[in-house]
Amino acid sequence: MKIAIANDHAALELKNELLVYLDSIGVEYVNFGTDSKDSVDYPIYAYKAANAVISGQCDRGILICGTGIGMSLAANKVKGIRCALCCEPYSAAMAVTHNNANMLAMGARVIGAELAKTVVKAYLESDFQGGRHSRRLELIERIEKGQEI
Ligand code: RB5
Repeated sequence: MKIAIANDHAALELKNELLVYLDSIGVEYVNFGTDSKDSVDYPIYAYKAANAVISGQCDRGILICGTGIGMSLAANKVKGIRCALCCEPYSAAMAVTHNNANMLAMGARVIGAELAKTVVKAYLESDFQGGRHSRRLELIERIEKGQEI
């Protein structure tokens, strides 16, 4: 699995710790930055990583900013992105098994690096269950297309 990872200035340190973690578990990634602590606008980075997921360059994505909120809001504006903001592993696993989340967002000012690694692990190790959950995702897709449900 190849991961698109992106962050803003508030999450550079956590991103770097997660890159070491991804290397240690042998997960490939594409780093969309930022790699500086200079203040940046998080939608630009969320958009780059989200597009990599939508284009198929990457299978899933991880977005980190101060709270994870801005990154997740921006990513969820990209058609086809289902980005889940999670701060513990149970939600991260459910975000995939029930919601087929193709992106995970976390807040670097909310969780520490060790907890973030457990969130990433749960996210990466989970698979979508399908079944009744597919029907619900189809309804979300209809909302995205501006159709009635
Ligand atoms: C940056 O200060 C902060 O607003 C950003 O990292 C993020 O938390 C936005 O949602």
